[in-house]
Amino acid sequence: MDYTQVAREYGTPLYVYNLDYMAQQYAALKGAFEGKKSLIAFAMKANSNLSVVACFAALGAGADCVSFGEVKRALIAGVPKYKIIFSGVGKRDDEILGALTEDILFINVESEAELMRVEAAARELGRAARVSVRVNPAIDARTHPYISTGLKENKFGVSVEVAKRLYIYAKNSPFLEPIAIHFHIGSQIVELEPIEQAARKAAELAKSLIALEIDLKFFDVGGGIGVTYKDEKTIDLAAYANTVFGALQGLDMTIICEPGRFLTANGGVFLTRVIYEKYSEGRRFVVVDGAMNDLIRPALYGAYHRVEAIGAAGDETLCDVVGPVCESGDFFAKNIVLPPIERGDLLVVHTAGAYGFAMSSNFNTRRRAAEVAVDKNGYRLIRERETYEDIFASEMRLLSAR
Ligand SMILES: Cc1ncc(COP(=O)(O)O)c(C=O)c1O
Repeated sequence: MDYTQVAREYGTPLYVYNLDYMAQQYAALKGAFEGKKSLIAFAMKANSNLSVVACFAALGAGADCVSFGEVKRALIAGVPKYKIIFSGVGKRDDEILGALTEDILFINVESEAELMRVEAAARELGRAARVSVRVNPAIDARTHPYISTGLKENKFGVSVEVAKRLYIYAKNSPFLEPIAIHFHIGSQIVELEPIEQAARKAAELAKSLIALEIDLKFFDVGGGIGVTYKDEKTIDLAAYANTVFGALQGLDMTIICEPGRFLTANGGVFLTRVIYEKYSEGRRFVVVDGAMNDLIRPALYGAYHRVEAIGAAGDETLCDVVGPVCESGDFFAKNIVLPPIERGDLLVVHTAGAYGFAMSSNFNTRRRAAEVAVDKNGYRLIRERETYEDIFASEMRLLSAR
């Protein structure tokens, strides 16, 4: 891919996604589950651009959504309603009603209080709501604490004991239809063992529920498959699938897997231009036109992203690559080596296809970046750069209406 060309054409900062790579990742995972019924439900929170979601929808993927906004996006992008799941620890009544009205596959319930709200909404609509309960298996996924979700102290899901009670309640309610079981213990997981433990616990619970004539059809193993940002050795897909098959022995259930990062992270880069270099107290700072509002992962998790300077050559020296935002956390890389750089040089921030644009904001009244998709047919703009008018529109209407 000629990054210089797309950057010239669409400006920077810019996200560029390789849809063919994303499709390959999808095919590899779907292929690993071959021989068993499976649904890969793309976790849209990782990258919710309509063209990216549409690419997965065309391949047969479903969508894992965490807001009604994401459910709407999934539908617009062409994901069939019967392949859409709605998860998340705090769904508002209007979101629950919206999801039930759209008749999606199921709502993933994360607490007793939420199950009551789903039941009430279903009663209002006069029909039963298909539900799953997110089980928190109390297992350490050994990942960054902010993206670990399966520990006892985490806010996600309910314990095995509570889950059992909720399933029995749901079975006895005319407005609830429990059809799935779900767990998701964290993101960027690079070891199989925690997933194996979680799958075993969830499968045991599923067996005990089926023995109570609760007709569970879907076994949702969440997402979380890690990727290589630097030198991480990642999980082998065949071993991953075998682990799930092993846990499911004796159970005839459709496997649902909800990857976000695995499908998109290494299919995306973030392009940013050097505004200038500055030296302060002997430190070299490469100041670029992208910032933490565009890609917050380094600021939020201290995450590593490989940074490459296109076309630069010469003796490399230590530097920090920083953005213009007024926070010391506004950096893309610290203590990396780069060759001499000139104003206008292009930097490529790698592994930016997941939790990049999706987590971006207008902090410092910065316009959100444009997004470009590349595939075998060429490249095209899939989101225009935000304009200042886009940002101010609502406030200006209200200001002038005073
Ligand atoms: C319930 C659920 N499913 C799937 C995912 C996707 O995770 P990943 O992008 O690590 O695959 C998340 C991420 O937070 C999640 O909370």
